Amino acid sequence: MLVKGLLQLYNNRPQFTIHKLRPVEDHEVDFADFFPASARDAEEMWSELRGMVAGFGNTHLRALLDAFLDDPDIAARYKVAPAAKTIHHAFRSGLLEHVISLCGLARLIAPHYPSVDGDLLLTGVILHDIGKIYELTYERSFGYSTEGQLIGHISIAMRMMSDKLRGLPDFPVELRNLVEHMILSHHGQLDFGSPKVPVFPEALLLHYLDDMDSKMECMRALIEKEPQAEGLFTGYSSSLERVALRKSRYINTAPAAPAPSRVEIPLPKPSAGAVPAPGPLTKPKPAPATDSLFGEKLSLALNFERK
Ligand SMILES: [Fe+2]
Ligand SMILES: [Fe+2]
Repeated sequence: MLVKGLLQLYNNRPQFTIHKLRPVEDHEVDFADFFPASARDAEEMWSELRGMVAGFGNTHLRALLDAFLDDPDIAARYKVAPAAKTIHHAFRSGLLEHVISLCGLARLIAPHYPSVDGDLLLTGVILHDIGKIYELTYERSFGYSTEGQLIGHISIAMRMMSDKLRGLPDFPVELRNLVEHMILSHHGQLDFGSPKVPVFPEALLLHYLDDMDSKMECMRALIEKEPQAEGLFTGYSSSLERVALRKSRYINTAPAAPAPSRVEIPLPKPSAGAVPAPGPLTKPKPAPATDSLFGEKLSLALNFERK
């Protein structure tokens, strides 16, 4: 609803007089004004993601990811979907922010392990939660779609893979199995919804990085929530199964450490040929100013006295 009116003070209280009211279309509304949203610009993150894929050496994986990211429906949803309804990155563009964060971690860690294929790891990172764009609803509020409740994001991603691979007949079957295994196993354990546990290095790394990034974001949100709340510890987080310490508050309220006592350091005695020791630390008194009429007269008088 778009409301036009006049805000005034009446008897020292704000009063809003409505002049006009009309319903608004979705395209007139910036939903980021009404929902929690990523602090980063979605288009900027999207360009970053596309740039990373463009740099892939593996042409099969690049073609697979381009098939996903060139799809207008997938692109539009990927830019706004949250990564979860409540647990982590539960805000507009949260999924993209989570994936960009994981890409940064993957690019740092992959070169550390010679056996890890960086392009394969990044492919797993970009596709692991892609099913969430259809599993979740995020137009008016965050929730689960019927498809999401019935099938879940891992199975939805498998469907999407089949759909995109139909257009890539030369895609090697072994590479397909590796990418699909990474998506299937990224929750790490059977009782966390993965039908397989990770069985090769990139899949194992993807699981640990995903787990780390979601928990770090969970903890950040927990600590920044309710800044007015008192106390050094936050409330209990059921997803992290703990409370968290408000570390900056703890550091800032800790009693100041006693100042160290002054220690006199003797100056070294001058020896022959040595550089002369510095003079006393007292500043010399400034000479009387002579760049004013009074200063000039005083200077003349002093000189006359000395003579
Ligand atoms: Fe997931
Ligand atoms: Fe994830």
